Amino acid sequence: MHNKIYNSNILITGGAGFIGSYVVEELLKHEPAKIIIIDNLIRGTYENMRSFLDNPLVEFVEGDVRDAELLENCIKGVDYVFHMAALRINACAASPREGFNVMLKSTFELAELCVKHKVKKVIYSSSASVYGLAQHFPTPETDNPYNNQTFYGGAKLWGEQLFRSYKFMFSLDYVALRYFNVYGPRMDTDGKYTEVMIRWLDCINDGKPPLIYGDGSTTMDFVYVKDVAKANVAALLSDVSDEAFNVGNCEETSLKQLLQVLLEVNNSNLISEHREENTINPVSRRLADNSKAKKLLNFEPSVGLEKGLYELSKWYFEKKKTIVYNV
Ligand SMILES: NC(=O)c1ccc[n+]([C@@H]2O[C@H](COP(=O)([O-])OP(=O)(O)OC[C@H]3O[C@@H](n4cnc5c(N)ncnc54)[C@H](O)[C@@H]3O)[C@@H](O)[C@H]2O)c1
Repeated sequence: MHNKIYNSNILITGGAGFIGSYVVEELLKHEPAKIIIIDNLIRGTYENMRSFLDNPLVEFVEGDVRDAELLENCIKGVDYVFHMAALRINACAASPREGFNVMLKSTFELAELCVKHKVKKVIYSSSASVYGLAQHFPTPETDNPYNNQTFYGGAKLWGEQLFRSYKFMFSLDYVALRYFNVYGPRMDTDGKYTEVMIRWLDCINDGKPPLIYGDGSTTMDFVYVKDVAKANVAALLSDVSDEAFNVGNCEETSLKQLLQVLLEVNNSNLISEHREENTINPVSRRLADNSKAKKLLNFEPSVGLEKGLYELSKWYFEKKKTIVYNV
């Protein structure tokens, strides 16, 4: 039996990015009529899209969501929209004006166009950043967002509220997904703000001691990227609307534990070195409560940290080899 993705037209903003490219792959399993990707490649890459760039069902538009005319051309005739284009948390802090234009203004234009062109449902990529340091652990969606201190978290929350108000005013259906710490193959490896696990993989590769800043007790909830893509598809397939869902792995992992598992899956016996923390991290804990997503979306993560880190390591070391061969 076919579901609603079959034969439908879908737009993905930011579909050349880390998570977006997996959402495209997941959607293609359900035979849509067409998937349009709009991405300015500020972080997305052709390499991320390698598995589907030649697929006739996929159209890639290299362009900016700040270009309202282009955005309208992409939205016309579309049934569903996944809105994933965004700046990273540090990029918003470095340039709040750019953050405003990409995260707020473009999201507003997109909501307007979705109403105008009668889009049936929007799946909005939100973030656990909306909570700041949460009040409860595991954190349910009902935790309040007043502890957030970042422009990025504020912008994501505003996006959720924008879609809520558009549901109320214009009956635009939407679901917001609050991802926790997403990791896996295709995650950013060369940016200025490369994630700690990539820096540690470099240490493992070079046989150098991995550095831990602070005491390593900060915890995160690491969720594997393919699980996040599945949550997106589940959010579209369900009839649920006007709801926000946590998407985490529901496991609290300290940075110290993360390093230990990373060393284990790579059979490494390197000893870590500690350095004084050089930045203040206001969010010292993260742990998702996914029970709402389980109940209403029938979504549960399926990839544990060990398996996920194994896949990440395999991909990263392969990638490094290719880079070395290419120079
Ligand atoms: N990775 C995580 O841990 C995480 C956690 C919470 C929320 N999110 C959210 O999930 C979504 C996808 O994140 P990701 O990790 O795949 O990041 P990403 O940076 O890989 O993907 C975002 C994509 O948007 C594109 N983009 C940025 N600005 C654009 C613009 N003005 N016009 C067109 N395209 C633009 C980038 O080129 C990139 O391909 C984002 O909305 C992000 O805020 C990610």
